[in-house]
Amino acid sequence: MKRLDGKSALITGAARGIGKAFAGAYVAEGATVAIGDIDLARAEESAAEIGSGAYAIRLDVTDQASIDQAIRTVEDKAGGLDILVNNAGVFDLAPIVEITRASYNRLFDINVAGALFTLQAGAKSMIARGKGGKIINMASQAGRRGESLVAVYCATKAAVISLTQSAGLNLIKHGINVNGIAPGVIDGEHWDGVDALFAKYENRPLGEKKRLVGEEVPFGRMGTAGDLVGMAIFLASAESDYVVAQTYNVDGGNWMS
Ligand SMILES: NC(=O)c1ccc[n+]([C@@H]2O[C@H](COP(=O)([O-])OP(=O)(O)OC[C@H]3O[C@@H](n4cnc5c(N)ncnc54)[C@H](O)[C@@H]3O)[C@@H](O)[C@H]2O)c1
Repeated sequence: MKRLDGKSALITGAARGIGKAFAGAYVAEGATVAIGDIDLARAEESAAEIGSGAYAIRLDVTDQASIDQAIRTVEDKAGGLDILVNNAGVFDLAPIVEITRASYNRLFDINVAGALFTLQAGAKSMIARGKGGKIINMASQAGRRGESLVAVYCATKAAVISLTQSAGLNLIKHGINVNGIAPGVIDGEHWDGVDALFAKYENRPLGEKKRLVGEEVPFGRMGTAGDLVGMAIFLASAESDYVVAQTYNVDGGNWMS
């Protein structure tokens, strides 16, 4: 008996990186997984790589019609939604005096409104079905405290932690557990982009910021998407039924809370 046997999951932003690793792990645990991403071609490639338990859906979490369509597709294909992972997220950085409204709006639209309204649509589907469910929001250590150049992204992830608390308290009466994961620094394409932005604003060679943040992790290195998989399975499984409205740090020891 696998831990997610017969379960149906939707993971947003799962065409690559952390979401893709979660998709592979959930399929290995017996789930059927919809890889929802704005990049459909990459989502299809990832689904093909993972195998028959995964399928791709074009999903833009900033577009309500796209969210509703994705939930309907999961209901039609898999008979309902048991697990939703709000993983789609984007990063930017700038000193306070250079933050633009365009960057602010984009980050809040995807990271906060995207997570909230996908959570809402997923919760409605789970409530209508009456079987409860699991919702996991991807926060970040960046949501635990501000960072000099990372004001907007940090604020979006603090909002995700707060929404996880409120939604967790509101939805547990329906048997829906809402919890979050706050990763530390996880290597991959996302952090390649972060590194390039730090290189620009801190006048560093490419790769230096990555090396430095990795050295600072108490565990001794940056994380990998695979390092988060155990927590993602736990929070999606019956083992976490009594866990409500929490956000767990999985960060090699970077943060205490
Ligand atoms: N990598 C890290 O160090 C790290 C640390 C803490 C938290 N996180 C968070 O974990 C999550 C996943 O991070 P990752 O490293 O895999 O990032 P990533 O950039 O590799 O993947 C993000 C995915 O989201 C998709 N996406 C972007 N906009 C979208 C939209 N509007 N609708 C649907 N999909 C969209 C992208 O196409 C991409 O496939 C994000 O929420 C991120 O903020 C990452």
